[in-house]
Amino acid sequence: MNVDLYERIWMWGTAGMLALFFGSTAVAAIGRQFQPPSHVETINPAAALSDPRFASRGVWVDDQGGVHVTVIGMMFVWLPDHVTVPAETPVTFHLTSTDVTHGYQIVRTNGQTMVIPGYVSRFTTRFAPGEYLIACNEYCGLGHHAMAGRLTVVPAAEWAGPGTAAPAAPAPEGGDHGSH
Ligand code: CUA
Repeated sequence: MNVDLYERIWMWGTAGMLALFFGSTAVAAIGRQFQPPSHVETINPAAALSDPRFASRGVWVDDQGGVHVTVIGMMFVWLPDHVTVPAETPVTFHLTSTDVTHGYQIVRTNGQTMVIPGYVSRFTTRFAPGEYLIACNEYCGLGHHAMAGRLTVVPAAEWAGPGTAAPAAPAPEGGDHGSH
């Protein structure tokens, strides 16, 4: 079969781009452990501050010893805006917003999710010891640039423990299919 030179160039070019895009998706998913969006669990944003899942915020430990962080985003602050977690330990973040869409990005880590009113975002990751900036990376209004927080990661042996009690109504395990 005779394939015209230009057609051949386009075919190989297309194949190369497909390989590049599939490859970069695989690297992000496997190598860097990026996770798909988790917006499956819903919540009433107007009542998020008093919702049992978000009424006590901060770092807590479940009855299996798993470390969790519960955070609410609102114009223009993270509640709480500073959390301390143990290093090299899986930490599960639970986030929601009371107003508009925010973005929770732990800079220079793979910890990042959109925070959308009406939904609970979740991701699990682990960190090397250090101080990390938490930035809002979705434009949310005039104070967007000031919406920042801090994550302190200490060696597990030096961790002082959770700062708050486990929520009265923990998020159902396995109930959201988006985060696994
Ligand atoms: Cu919150 Cu930008």
